[in-house]
Amino acid sequence: MLINNKDISVYIHWPYCLKKCPYCDFNSHISKSKIESQEWEKSYKSEINMEQNLLGHRNVKSVFFGGGTPSLMPTYLIESILNQLAKKWTFSSSVEITMEANPSSVEINNFKSLYETGVNRLSLGFQSLNNNSLNFLGRNHTAQDSFKALEIAKRYFNRISFDLIYGLPNQNEKKWEEELKEAINLAEEHMSAYQLTIEKGTPFYASYRDGKFSLPEEEILLNLYNLTDDLLNSAKLEKYEISNYAIKGSECIHNLDIWQGSEYCGIGPGAHGRIIVNKKWYATQKFSAPNIWLSKFLKEKSSFYEKIEISNKTRAKEILLTGLRLRKGVNIKKLFDNLNIRQKDLIIDENEYYKFNKLGLIETFNNMLRITNKGVPILNHIINKIIL
Ligand SMILES: C[S@@+](CC[C@H](N)C(=O)[O-])C[C@H]1O[C@@H](n2cnc3c(N)ncnc32)[C@H](O)[C@@H]1O
Ligand code: SF4
Repeated sequence: MLINNKDISVYIHWPYCLKKCPYCDFNSHISKSKIESQEWEKSYKSEINMEQNLLGHRNVKSVFFGGGTPSLMPTYLIESILNQLAKKWTFSSSVEITMEANPSSVEINNFKSLYETGVNRLSLGFQSLNNNSLNFLGRNHTAQDSFKALEIAKRYFNRISFDLIYGLPNQNEKKWEEELKEAINLAEEHMSAYQLTIEKGTPFYASYRDGKFSLPEEEILLNLYNLTDDLLNSAKLEKYEISNYAIKGSECIHNLDIWQGSEYCGIGPGAHGRIIVNKKWYATQKFSAPNIWLSKFLKEKSSFYEKIEISNKTRAKEILLTGLRLRKGVNIKKLFDNLNIRQKDLIIDENEYYKFNKLGLIETFNNMLRITNKGVPILNHIINKIIL
């Protein structure tokens, strides 16, 4: 599972959006000048070539176009990126190709051609089914746009997910329950529900700090989280990660593989990767600013900002960090065997582990180390304490 040196997941980052949402701290921008898509095509293709030179032969198990708003990419560019990947590597017969899409009219009209490029999974950014909440979130679409987007998406895609954000000002159990019930009626095989986080450097950060809005109290947030779990689970959308729910077998292959520690290659501005070269793990990162990324390629044929070797111990900690957010947890024996780690206590603070274990917040069963349902509300605290 962890090191087979053959399968690879590929993440492609498109950094542009029509509008910057006030809560968002992703590497997303509004383009100040005309986007020269041929230059972008050239750069994406060169970056794929460069990664292939480094990694050699690989089998692409999944591709994930994220952003920004990658559904705004010209179709020929998506096609060209996928062709280049297929030229340099092989594609697994069941390759999952996901695209994040906003439910705006520009993109809805593009769904058919998107499907024709080979994209076979759509992740729609609904964020809310309530127009007041969408307004608060600064979105430039309405709930009706989302319904329309879903209706059209269903004509072409068998695999559809959508994102919702909860924990908004004035949101209580009753309002969230109504929204969730509506979401369940709409849901296909997958849904993500994220609690609003106030990220440093965003307009929301300043407004929240200045008291322009307040968020629900901790106790209500916990109720909203538990409600999400209960309602979605009873609709057979089972939680497989702290914010992700799917019908059994319909989990996002790309994210699940990455969270479990697979190799992945990040292409595009700011994209991260974790790759193995000559049996050593490397963390890679590309230049974040779109123009720097582009000019690095056009001028110097290189876009790496960082490519640093990471020890197996560091990699094990990273995998624990994401793996413990999974419902099934992490196979600790496999993890340590694969990374050749002999001493568990170099990675996990055993005293802290036993403290949380006694309280029923973390457990190990058949080598699977996992946070229990009772532990989930303080998951970050437990993870911070037990990983050394
Ligand atoms: C890369 S982002 C956005 C993709 C797409 N451009 C969109 O806006 O729908 C992926 C998801 O992260 C979630 N997200 C982004 N910022 C967030 C925040 N501050 N708090 C909670 N969820 C957030 C949103 O649900 C979003 O759909
Ligand atoms: S939430 Fe999506 S659309 Fe809004 S700025 Fe972030 S990436 Fe762009």
